[in-house]
Amino acid sequence: MSENSSAEGAAVVQEIVAAFPSGRGSLIPILQEIQRRQGYISPEALKALERLTGISATEAYGVATFYTQFRFTRPGRHKIQVCNGTACHVRGGAQVLEELERRLGISVGQTTPDGQFSLERVACLGCCALSPVVAVDGKVYAGMTPKKVPGVLREYAAQATQSARQEK
Ligand code: FES
Repeated sequence: MSENSSAEGAAVVQEIVAAFPSGRGSLIPILQEIQRRQGYISPEALKALERLTGISATEAYGVATFYTQFRFTRPGRHKIQVCNGTACHVRGGAQVLEELERRLGISVGQTTPDGQFSLERVACLGCCALSPVVAVDGKVYAGMTPKKVPGVLREYAAQATQSARQEK
């Protein structure tokens, strides 16, 4: 994180902390708000939180890791969600996830080094009849198989190339 964005991040944390009553009871809502605003809980945010509340970064991290809702890596430009609900699981969702992990070179909860993709395992996405499903930025891919994974990834890699061209 650059010095500027780190300072901005600290300012955001300060604003959030000021909006909640002091005390440990506010820790979870503060962490939720940090994640809502910044997309994840960064080490810098935990340090700012420590300075402002006296709750150590280690303690806050320990509390946050207890809940699956919190993420600790910056989300990728494209969010891939692999359904781990029963219907998807029994129809091969785990193999689809394995293939995504293999192709992207990351595990669930991580972001690719180029910042393009982050990978999540989620509970039922509400379209079990289409299982197994994967959603990318909210777009649902039905009847997923490991073989379909490269095609889906290519779609988003092509978008990235296109927007890079437009930015030039
Ligand atoms: S179990 Fe995957 S969509 Fe319901």
